Amino acid sequence: MSQVSLPKSLHPNLPLTALAPMQDVTNLWFMKVIAHYGSPDYFFTEYFRVNDTSRLNRNILAAITENDTGRPVFAQMIGESIPDLVRTAKELCNYNIAGVDLNMGCPAPRIYRKNVGGGLLREPEKVDRILGELRYAVSDRPLTVKMRVGFENTDNFYQILDIINRHSIDLLSLHGRTVKDMYHGAVKYDLIGEAVRRVDCPVLANGNIHSATTAIEVLSQTGAAGVMVGRWAIGNPWIFNQIRQALRKEAIAPVPLVEVRNYIDRLCQTPTAATMPVRSRVGYLKMFLNYIALLVDAEGHFLRLMRHTQTEVELLNLCDRFLLVEETKTFALAPYSGL
Ligand SMILES: Cc1cc2nc3c(=O)[nH]c(=O)nc-3n(C[C@H](O)[C@H](O)[C@H](O)COP(=O)(O)O)c2cc1C
Repeated sequence: MSQVSLPKSLHPNLPLTALAPMQDVTNLWFMKVIAHYGSPDYFFTEYFRVNDTSRLNRNILAAITENDTGRPVFAQMIGESIPDLVRTAKELCNYNIAGVDLNMGCPAPRIYRKNVGGGLLREPEKVDRILGELRYAVSDRPLTVKMRVGFENTDNFYQILDIINRHSIDLLSLHGRTVKDMYHGAVKYDLIGEAVRRVDCPVLANGNIHSATTAIEVLSQTGAAGVMVGRWAIGNPWIFNQIRQALRKEAIAPVPLVEVRNYIDRLCQTPTAATMPVRSRVGYLKMFLNYIALLVDAEGHFLRLMRHTQTEVELLNLCDRFLLVEETKTFALAPYSGL
């Protein structure tokens, strides 16, 4: 059984929702933007890198110390050195965090080659030692794990789930793909269901939840305690409210495209934009627009033209053209397929 209780959810009668941690995305500003459109129950920071010389990254820390969304923030760590993970977890506990989360899923080769992130899934004994020491260090707050279903295959999956039980992990966020799958291929929701039945703690189902309807389907297929949404919260910041509406069997209010134009403006107002070189600003906006565009027009015109723009002025004019002209058009409730 869990040793400590999780922070209160927004709506105790509904399944949990969480914004997935995303490096270079889920910073303080993005959490504030998401909160404006409808907070999830939980936020997770980008990962704090942990090694023998690491210090807490100040920008990531700001998502905890300056967070005024009113929602709990879990601090995520990535690393493999047990003394340094323990040191960092204790340092993080000096701040107002909801809990400490360990990343066991990052699929970037430069990361897993160091046996951190998803690389840890190859070494259950190491995971056992890390979680044992971390549990001892983080005894009065939730200790949580975010992972994938395996590295190359699922051979270690059940062993790792049992390790999660042995160390009384408080919450498991599970992306239903292997590390080698990266972000491709079908998400194995059946394995998420297996985890739900095997572990003692609540499980957040993660991977390709792109609409309120998929959230409902995944919850019913897996029996998970909640859903964790990453890329489709970038594309659609209304998604957490829409999931709650769907769970309550309410009609989902369509979002007028002019509101999407306002969302883009809000993203532009990130305090770091002022110091960003112009080229990076265009790249920053396109990263978001790559997801947003998939809900704008079924033909993919906005997506294609957006990718060809070179300057910020060109990009924002294009947004005006597609989002401000037809006042009656609304944002799709799920990304158009085939784009
Ligand atoms: C740009 C980007 C950055 C990510 N950074 C992290 C991270 O720092 N920590 C982590 O555990 N997962 C990270 N992930 C994985 C997501 O949290 C999530 O598991 C994955 O995107 C699948 O969920 P989705 O289909 O809802 O996006 C990242 C994903 C993306 C797309």
